[in-house]
Amino acid sequence: MTDAERQKQAVGQAAAELVRNGMVVGLGTGSTAKWFVEAVAARKLDLSCVPTSVETAHLATRLGLRLIEMDAVERIDITVDGADEIGPDLALIKGGGGALLREKLVWAVSDRCVVIADGSKHVARLGAFPLPIEVVPFGHRTTAARIRDVLHASGIDGPLRLRMDGSVPRVTDNGNLIYDAQCGAIDDPGTLAARLKATTGVVEHGIFFGMATEGLLGTDGEVRRLTR
Ligand code: A5P
Repeated sequence: MTDAERQKQAVGQAAAELVRNGMVVGLGTGSTAKWFVEAVAARKLDLSCVPTSVETAHLATRLGLRLIEMDAVERIDITVDGADEIGPDLALIKGGGGALLREKLVWAVSDRCVVIADGSKHVARLGAFPLPIEVVPFGHRTTAARIRDVLHASGIDGPLRLRMDGSVPRVTDNGNLIYDAQCGAIDDPGTLAARLKATTGVVEHGIFFGMATEGLLGTDGEVRRLTR
């Protein structure tokens, strides 16, 4: 196992310890969240779980966790999920795995949102990781042109690329498409998040601003707790 994988395992296991019997739990998506899902399933608690992707739903079902519909509850006690970048004030880039929309829907109704990651994800400034932006398929190239204008207005002029699965566009769990924006540096994630959200054709973007309540970061030898 690589050092990064060991760190993912450690933070996933540490996060599983935060879960209590009877809780409604949001299950994140990705290679780090997978460790959490496995560790929480191993605790054999009585839980109701809301997965953030079809992939996580399959994993959780295989591990014997009870899944419920998102709309079956008004609040989720705790959600644990990975991130592609963790910046200052726990602002995040998410969606490298394409699950950003369901992730944000689940995070938005969670009392505790715990981001878990290996140490390489912790950055001084967001933006090196391409920012995923989910758009409706209808007229997506015209939406992309609007996104370019929004990025320019934020001083960002890196490439904006339609995410592909081989020779065809990648389709999300929600039937949408994803554009990845190479931002380089996002100086003001809150403003960029608001501008993207207001863009016609954009369903959601991967900036999670003011959403994570805490973080668990893997380092050599220990799990470091991050707060806002
Ligand atoms: C899924 O769409 C993402 O938001 C993931 O949570 C994020 O990409 C982190 O994934 P890894 O834990 O696999 O790096």
